[in-house]
Amino acid sequence: MIKENKKIKRIKTICCVGAGYVGGPSMAVIADRCPDLNIFVVDSNLQRVDAWNNDDLSKLPIYEPGLDKVVSRTRNRNLFFSNNIDESIKKADMVFISVNTPIKVKGIGAGQTSNLKWVEACARKIKEIATGHTIVVEKSTLPVKTAQSIKDILNSQDQNEVKNKSFSILSNPEFLAEGTAIENLEKPDRVLIGGEDKDAIDLLIQIYENWIPKNKILTTNLWSSELSKLTANAFLAQRISSINSISALCEKTGASVYEVSKAVGLDKRIGKEFLQAGPGFGGSCFKKDILNLVYLCNFYGLGTVADYWEQIIEINNWQQKRIYEIIVNRLFGNLAEKKIAILGFAFKANTNDTRESPAIEIAKNLLLEGAILNIHDPKVNKLQIESAIEVESKSKKSNLNIWNKFERIDDTVNGVDAIVILTDWEDYKNLDWIKISKLMRNPSWIFDTRSVLEKSQIKNLEANYWKLGDGFL
Ligand code: UDX
Ligand code: ADP
Repeated sequence: MIKENKKIKRIKTICCVGAGYVGGPSMAVIADRCPDLNIFVVDSNLQRVDAWNNDDLSKLPIYEPGLDKVVSRTRNRNLFFSNNIDESIKKADMVFISVNTPIKVKGIGAGQTSNLKWVEACARKIKEIATGHTIVVEKSTLPVKTAQSIKDILNSQDQNEVKNKSFSILSNPEFLAEGTAIENLEKPDRVLIGGEDKDAIDLLIQIYENWIPKNKILTTNLWSSELSKLTANAFLAQRISSINSISALCEKTGASVYEVSKAVGLDKRIGKEFLQAGPGFGGSCFKKDILNLVYLCNFYGLGTVADYWEQIIEINNWQQKRIYEIIVNRLFGNLAEKKIAILGFAFKANTNDTRESPAIEIAKNLLLEGAILNIHDPKVNKLQIESAIEVESKSKKSNLNIWNKFERIDDTVNGVDAIVILTDWEDYKNLDWIKISKLMRNPSWIFDTRSVLEKSQIKNLEANYWKLGDGFL
């Protein structure tokens, strides 16, 4: 079907390129709330597409509470996952770009700005394939001014090309947090739409109005929208680094960071969210977005502003290093062949995502010290761990397992010298910690970086106990 090149009156068909942590859940919720829309989510990764189409909903490619229910209501009704990229773009009135935008690993801006290879490929594909008028929506988090590059690609004209297509570009950043994605999508604090074409903005507003009150839908210019996403993430990450910096001071002074954050957070002007000290922030957004902000500031000659934001990442890296050094110190400065259990490998609870998880750096450093790691996580699989730490489980030299992934917690902790709790999974809170401490090799240590154990659980432990940010213990 070829669409006509005229203004769209109502969106009927959507294509979303990229069936990842953002594209999958956000399209599933739009499909759920807008049964009149047909939504085609496409991905070049066939394995991922197959997983989205798996009859067994526990095998969806991403774990997100409530996602299975939304997918079961919508899949093959008005939500379709496939790798029919061309066909889906061709018939769409609106195309969302939800592809990966990791930090560049080589070339100009390596380690500092996003690699836009996938976004550019996607824009070129849309330019080639789209028919009639198409609204293109940036959903992925992108450096400010990416919309300009997308515009330039879409509006460029090849020699002999007959101009029978046109585009409007909108920025509609996603603010969902993993683990609460469905809740965030169903009841967002706000929906942000940036753009210049009022008709296109109104069409996107019409979609969201199906379930979101109008006063929560905010419209801005393109650049404010792009910059707001980076700024929101930078502010959230800043709070975490701030409280983590105080956690170290608490350990030195005999204060407790949990008491301090409660006291500070009760001030209405500060608020209690995002003041939980821990092993540092992970996830695909915070580090990347701050790096992009820093890069942008440097690009525009705002060196002092760049340095200010860079410190948020510095503190985050320092917190992870600090934890690893404390573990080595308490275990007599030597980890050679000592067994250490890692509880939690995901970057936070309720997700199977390991991107930028603090567990990665900490595990790598412990392995470098010669420790043998027993790793447990309710949702992360062995392959993910292997690619995250880039270390095969068997040592090539000795054929010994240097790390193992366990399904049962009892097996994970059996005979270990230390347990390091790195993810705040609810499962860990309800364990019989006294029984667990008895399974360890004495003298043993529990390093709790997420304040998982309560006071009553600490009392009769057979292991020594260290809690991040608590100088009183
Ligand atoms: C974040 C933003 O919250 C979301 O709006 C944006 O769209 C994407 O980035 P996400 O990374 O999925 O979402 O999770 P978030 O809940 O923000 O947690 C990020 C990291 O910060 C996790 O590692 C978490 O454990 C850590 N964190 C969070 C803390 O250490 N302390 C806190 O108080 C809160
Ligand atoms: P996010 O967390 O931003 O959703 P993910 O990495 O989870 O990021 O998902 C991005 C998805 O986009 C991946 O599944 C990847 O295969 C897909 N993708 C990237 N580029 C393209 C493209 N040009 N065409 C189709 N799919 C793409």
